[in-house]
Amino acid sequence: MSKYFFLARVLAMPILESKFLRKEFEDLVAVRDVSLSLEKGNVLALVGPNGAGKSTWLKMITGLLRPTSGTAVIDGIDLIDDPRGIHRKIGFLPDFFGLYDELTVSQYLEYFCLTYKIPKSSHTEVIQSCLKRVNLISKINSPIEHLSRGMKQRLGIARSLVQDPPLLILDEPTSGLDPDARHDLHQLFLQLSAMGKTLIVSSHVLTELQEYCSHVAVIQTGKLLSFGTIEKFLNQGGKTASFDVRFLGLVDAQIQELQKIVADYGTVTLVKSEHAELELTLNSESQYLLLKDLLAHGFRVHSFALKQGSISEAYVKATRRGPDDV
Ligand SMILES: Nc1ncnc2c1ncn2[C@@H]1O[C@H](COP(=O)(O)OP(=O)(O)OP(=O)(O)O)[C@@H](O)[C@H]1O
Ligand SMILES: [Mg+2]
Repeated sequence: MSKYFFLARVLAMPILESKFLRKEFEDLVAVRDVSLSLEKGNVLALVGPNGAGKSTWLKMITGLLRPTSGTAVIDGIDLIDDPRGIHRKIGFLPDFFGLYDELTVSQYLEYFCLTYKIPKSSHTEVIQSCLKRVNLISKINSPIEHLSRGMKQRLGIARSLVQDPPLLILDEPTSGLDPDARHDLHQLFLQLSAMGKTLIVSSHVLTELQEYCSHVAVIQTGKLLSFGTIEKFLNQGGKTASFDVRFLGLVDAQIQELQKIVADYGTVTLVKSEHAELELTLNSESQYLLLKDLLAHGFRVHSFALKQGSISEAYVKATRRGPDDV
């Protein structure tokens, strides 16, 4: 194998491959043979009802819970062959985590530096860099008990970054946070993804998935009901999706031209010229091209969004339909 071919294969290697992971607790099958794979920079939203098996699957991947059968390969390391090796590859924020309120932020992260056997000489640099990444550097000397809930979540994420792992697993990191704090965390997920980290985030807040994830996995009674990109999830295997498009300063004379352009991409189901609003159904893969075309023709596009409610509808469809790839 040539050096370049080998390099190309390594770069394309998935960061996570879950291979038929299964967990049984006596008679209960909590996770049923879950298989999926993620690449560098992917952000997976893991959704499903209470008791679906999300946390159990996450604990298996992190090496905290031994699978009944199946395995996972993380950044080239097999979970069954080398569970300790897996710990170095993953930063994990469990659904419930303690923060040692009496410590300061910096003392807390120092503790994790020691746990991960990071050389003493690098501690200050590692602590500062983790806190900068989660935008908490101003609190470096504050006692943890003085932090708000959102800050504590960010400190939990900082802790998961201490070893600089390629994969971050965050089990309900936004639970109990207000919309602003959730939005801040979503922005942080995007920043981490842009840095090349792969993230798995379990969440019950469906309406915000689009803000931060590239992929969605739906789990119910231990089964992976659907897995794919957020676009495919919203499309539910169909070829079309509905969008609301709004324009600035659209005049009646432009409507005909607009209809002509849009007709090449999909079906215009409704044009409400009085509000400069367009509701259209189109092949969702062509949405980017349509937007480009509209801008090239000088239309001032104010917003171009999937219709509200799509996510909840997609979730209901996925959980009613049964196992399938979307
Ligand atoms: N240690 C255990 N022993 C026995 N049963 C368990 C254990 N851990 C989890 N379970 C069961 O496995 C199933 C899946 O639980 P899990 O915690 O993975 O669900 P979840 O999707 O994370 O739910 P939630 O959204 O409420 O966090 C549940 O029926 C739960 O009761
Ligand atoms: Mg859970």
